[in-house]
Amino acid sequence: MRSTIIAAAAFAVGALATPTLLTKRGCNDTCMTFDQATTVANNFKSLISAYSNASAEEYLTVDFNDYSDSVTTLIDSGCTGPQPLGAVTFDSRESFEAGQGNQPNIPFEILNMWYACTGPVVIRWRSAQTPNIVTGNIVMETERDTTGSEPWLIKTVYSEFNSGDWLVNLGVFVPNCTASGNAASGPVGKKVKRSLPVRMM
Ligand SMILES: *[C@@H]1O[C@H](CO)[C@@H](O)[C@H](O)[C@H]1NC(C)=O
Ligand SMILES: *[C@@H]1O[C@H](CO)[C@@H](O)[C@H](O)[C@H]1NC(C)=O
Ligand SMILES: *[C@@H]1O[C@H](CO)[C@@H](O)[C@H](O)[C@H]1NC(C)=O
Repeated sequence: MRSTIIAAAAFAVGALATPTLLTKRGCNDTCMTFDQATTVANNFKSLISAYSNASAEEYLTVDFNDYSDSVTTLIDSGCTGPQPLGAVTFDSRESFEAGQGNQPNIPFEILNMWYACTGPVVIRWRSAQTPNIVTGNIVMETERDTTGSEPWLIKTVYSEFNSGDWLVNLGVFVPNCTASGNAASGPVGKKVKRSLPVRMM
């Protein structure tokens, strides 16, 4: 489902780049280093911008979980199903592979990174889509691993981004950019925040 939706937008692969970061801190084997955190961030980037199942198996834990109502919104095209909002989006590495595997590569630039000794790694990112750029934040909880090539595997992802603009880019939502921002009803258009309609809880 997700693949059909995102397949509508084909983008070039972004080059892996070292993000602009905090000052390097001395660490040891039980504590993530700056370089290891950068690698974790770039590993996730590569799963978005240059996906392969082999990379997913190298970078993610088997019990990987990805929570993202933004991704769910793309899967559902803004409707309430089939994927429920507020629930885990991909509940295993295998389900992430099945969802991500058929995607075209998506441009993905890391804007900032923060990290802590035992994880998480947190990034702010941007995707140079047209007509609207998409910006998001990701918190990645990690787990120390000594069995493979990666010292830190990504175990849980909490990822939210501007899925409104992404749906516009896909043509799922067509905004009326000449609509009156003061209209109480009628076509959705440019509105200042203070005149956004009040929603009933
Ligand atoms: C590693 O560094 C952390 C943070 O400075 C420290 O708490 C921990 O005791 C160190 N571990 C070892 C094995 O040196
Ligand atoms: C990648 O893994 C997923 C999940 O196991 C599978 O559905 C898909 O066919 C795999 N893709 C390739 C190219 O092997
Ligand atoms: C966009 O909004 C304007 C102002 O309300 C309206 O006149 C116009 O018909 C709308 N266009 C479309 C395509 O809905």
